[in-house]
Amino acid sequence: MRILSVGIATLDIINTVAAYPSEDEELRALEHRVARGGNATNTLVVLSQLGHACSWAGTIADEPDSRYILDDLTRYGIDLSHLVHHASSKVPTSYVVLSRENASRSIVHYRDLPEYSAKDFNAVNPVEFDWIHFEGRNPTETLQMLQRVKEGFPQVGCSLEVEKPRDGIDALLALPDVLFFSKVFAESRGHADAASLLMAMRECNPRALLFCAWGDEGAWMLKADGGMQHQPAVQPAELVDTLGAGDVFNAGVIDGLLRENSYGQVLMQAVRLAGIKCGQVGFGINTGAL
Ligand code: FRU
Repeated sequence: MRILSVGIATLDIINTVAAYPSEDEELRALEHRVARGGNATNTLVVLSQLGHACSWAGTIADEPDSRYILDDLTRYGIDLSHLVHHASSKVPTSYVVLSRENASRSIVHYRDLPEYSAKDFNAVNPVEFDWIHFEGRNPTETLQMLQRVKEGFPQVGCSLEVEKPRDGIDALLALPDVLFFSKVFAESRGHADAASLLMAMRECNPRALLFCAWGDEGAWMLKADGGMQHQPAVQPAELVDTLGAGDVFNAGVIDGLLRENSYGQVLMQAVRLAGIKCGQVGFGINTGAL
């Protein structure tokens, strides 16, 4: 199937440490690597390995570090024809500390690159895609893009990741067919568990399929008929790298829905994929393990 993802790619500078440092501490990293990251593109590289034709719509800075991003996406066969180039910015860069102690991933993020805009999105013809996935960033612009897709092309499946509590994000919730909420978002709204967040979010969109992943507690799904389902997390033999596990979960859901799997199978596959990811470095998925 043909999938477009609208969102970011980042340069991730990742240091693995024995345990997260305290302030003003100096410590040696056990490992160091530089990788391409970013929610939308993390999701795409997994979908591409699951056999889909994937395109990325986003912005890129014309500076040397962009080569990590473009080389990696090219390696995974992602179509880059919808990219918008900006000459005088830095690629968004995440300084990531991965702790061996508990596999937490703390991120300091820098960005000055302009966001992909609704005007940029006018160059996209939604009918060329079976599914369009959006990151819930830059809500004013994302609202216009979502409206264009849902009003003009209702046959195109549409999902939105709501990861961070951003001003204006609520205006987006009524439009997509699928909503992915994060634990961080749930907690920002005063919910101590995924099920209560999903029940509350149901009011914003009565017909969407709602998901909320909750780390090692697994993930919850709320269907339009009111049915709530929970899938316990799949723990890898060793917790290695949780960076982007949520993005992998989203890919698992989109893939399952496009294959018209049952909702139960969709949730189970997404949780299993996220678990596999946590037991390995990066996003190279062994699809045979599914
Ligand atoms: C993981 C991730 C990283 C990136 C950061 C951006 O979900 O996409 O790859 O640096 O989040 O917020």
